Amino acid sequence: MEAVVAARIVHVLGVVLWIGGVWFVTTVIIPSVIEDGCGEESIKLFERVEDRFAWQSRIIVLITGLSGFYMLYVANSWSLFLNSSYWWLFAMSLVWLAFTLLLFVLEPLFLHRWFMSAIKRAPQSTFRRMNWLHWVMLVLSLVTIAGTVAGSHGWLWL
Ligand code: HEM
Repeated sequence: MEAVVAARIVHVLGVVLWIGGVWFVTTVIIPSVIEDGCGEESIKLFERVEDRFAWQSRIIVLITGLSGFYMLYVANSWSLFLNSSYWWLFAMSLVWLAFTLLLFVLEPLFLHRWFMSAIKRAPQSTFRRMNWLHWVMLVLSLVTIAGTVAGSHGWLWL
């Protein structure tokens, strides 16, 4: 019992650090770079910030996923994935999968290289497009968090 509560604590702390970081990058860091006219110095600083955050995110995403799967395993609630009232369980896994793919596969394989050459060609539009993508991920994550907290405390909307 205590182990599941501990897993939930770790899981929620992971979500706070991870999605809080996405919020900060989306609403503070990228808009500041755009406001600065995507100057050379601010792009350099952005890369350092993103690089640090990407490493932290990789570790946090792993821990959040493991603690989530552990809770499902202990409660043996896999069948809830088939129940539409538990759409938020599906949403959590989807958000997790999307970030895992981005951080562990797409970014190291080609996204980073593509981004570096795109900034050289058209910095403003590249940062705007990236901000838009961050907003999509942020809104999906926030809807998921709201649905999960409501659902896991008995407020099932469907
Ligand atoms: C592999 C991915 C994930 C799995 C398997 C998973 C699984 C779970 C499980 C089983 C619970 C406990 C639910 C309950 O007791 O009713 C939970 C809680 C929670 N999860 Fe996830 N999760 C995952 C990823 C995420 C992500 C990406 C987010 C945020 C975007 C998230 C946000 C939360 C929150 C906020 C809670 C606490 C709800 C509460 O107790 O009020 N999870 N998760």
